[in-house]
Amino acid sequence: MREYKLVVLGSGGAGKSALTVQFVQGIFVEKYDPTIEDSYRKQVEVDAQQCMLEILDTAGTAPMILVGNKCDLEDERVVGKEQGQNLARQWNNCAFLESSVKSKINVNEIFYDLVWPINRK
Ligand code: GTP
Ligand code: MG
Repeated sequence: MREYKLVVLGSGGAGKSALTVQFVQGIFVEKYDPTIEDSYRKQVEVDAQQCMLEILDTAGTAPMILVGNKCDLEDERVVGKEQGQNLARQWNNCAFLESSVKSKINVNEIFYDLVWPINRK
């Protein structure tokens, strides 16, 4: 049987867990219990094919960072720095960094920038 790995993303309290539990178990969860991470499995029939869905229900409160990688390849740039900064602004004003894994630029900063906002909570 084919396996499908699905990830549910969205803001905290939006209803990701309630949606997933309603789909998998047919129950409406009234109580709000913020998720750390949960996974569910459900077998469904789609287009006369049996499919196994593995659904990862994520935390909506985790900070986010937008990363433009391969910044060492300046000659092949297709996305401008401004474009990246503007997109990050639209995404709830999240941090934006350009990185190069190859040249070791901003590799640590990406992960540190995710930890700092969690520490401040
Ligand atoms: P995090 O795990 O913190 O990211 O939140 P979440 O997105 O998983 O939210 P959750 O599913 O826990 O739902 C938050 C609250 O909204 C709960 O009290 C739910 O019962 C309620 N809720 C979810 N969907 C609906 C809906 O369609 N209608 C109403 N009235 N309430 C809903
Ligand atoms: Mg949840």
